[in-house]
Amino acid sequence: MIVYETIRETRDFAEKTRQSGKTIGFVPTMGALHEGHISLVKRAKEENDVVIVSIFVNPIQFNNPDDLKKYPRTLEKDLLMLSAVDCDLVFNPSVHEMYPEKVEKDYDFGDLATVMEGEFRPGHFNGVATVVQRLFEITLPHKAYFGEKDYQQLQIIRALVRNEKLDLDIVPCPISREADGLARSSRNERLTPQMRKAVPYIHLVLEEARSLGRVHQASQIIRFVKAKFSDHPLLKLEYFSIADGETLQPVTGEILPGNYGFIAVFAGEIRLIDNIRLI
Ligand code: PAJ
Repeated sequence: MIVYETIRETRDFAEKTRQSGKTIGFVPTMGALHEGHISLVKRAKEENDVVIVSIFVNPIQFNNPDDLKKYPRTLEKDLLMLSAVDCDLVFNPSVHEMYPEKVEKDYDFGDLATVMEGEFRPGHFNGVATVVQRLFEITLPHKAYFGEKDYQQLQIIRALVRNEKLDLDIVPCPISREADGLARSSRNERLTPQMRKAVPYIHLVLEEARSLGRVHQASQIIRFVKAKFSDHPLLKLEYFSIADGETLQPVTGEILPGNYGFIAVFAGEIRLIDNIRLI
C-alpha cells in the first residue's frame, strides 16, 4: 500500500491509473477509522480496479474549534486497517498541502443545506463540499463512496456532482452499527464508559419511531421522540426531524414512502447523529 502526502504524487498516480484503463474507487475520510469506514473501502474494492482512501481532518468543516482539536487521530492504526483490506493508495495531506491559501468556495445548495446539520452547524457543508471537490480533482475517481450515516452530507455531495457537472458516480453505503445498534462513528471513541452504555438508546428510539410511522402523523412521532429525551439524565436532544429522503424538507402530515427520521443528540459534549428510513 502506497502512502502519499503530496497532491502531485497522488494526482500523478491517479492519472497513470486512468491512462492504463483501470477504474478508481475513492473513499474520503477524516481517519480514526472503524468498521463503518472499512465497509466503504471493501465495497470500493469490489467495484473498482484501484482504491484510493484519503485521511484528512478538514479544519474548514468544523464549526466548533474544540471538536476539531479533540477529533481522534490514529494514523498508524488506520494504515494497518487499510492495508488489511488491500487499499492501494492512502492520501494523507497536511492542512498546508490542501489549503496553501484561504480558498473556500461559496456553494449554494439551496434548501438542502439550510435544514438539520446545516442549521445547527453553519458553514459545515460549505467546508465539506470544498474539500470533497478538491479531493475529487486530485484522486480522479470513477466512483466515490459515502455512508448513509451522514445522510445529509450524501445528498449535498450528490447536489455538488450535479451542480458542478462532475463526471463520477456517487455510491451510497448503508449505516454500519455496533451489535447494540449504535451507529459507528469516530466520535464514539471519546464517550465515557457510562455514556457508551447510554447511547444505544438513540437507535432504539429511532426504531420505535419507525414502528409508529405506519399509523401516526409526523407531528405525533416528533412529539413522541422529544418526550423520550425530555427527562433523560445523560442525553440531550438537539433535533429530531422527519423529512423527505430526496429533498430533506420537513414532513408534517402522513408518513410517506422515502421519509426518514433524522436525529442529533449530545452525550455530554460529544455530538452524535443518526437516521432511519421510516417507510
Ligand atoms: P468521516 O466522518 O471520517 O466519514 C467518512 C465516510 O465514512 C463518510 O462517507 C461517512 O458517511 C462514512 N461513515 C462513517 N461512519 C459510518 C457508518 N457507521 N456506517 C457507514 N458509513 C459511515 O464524512 C466525513 O468523514 C467528512 O465529512 C469527509 C466526507 C471525509 C469530508 O471531509
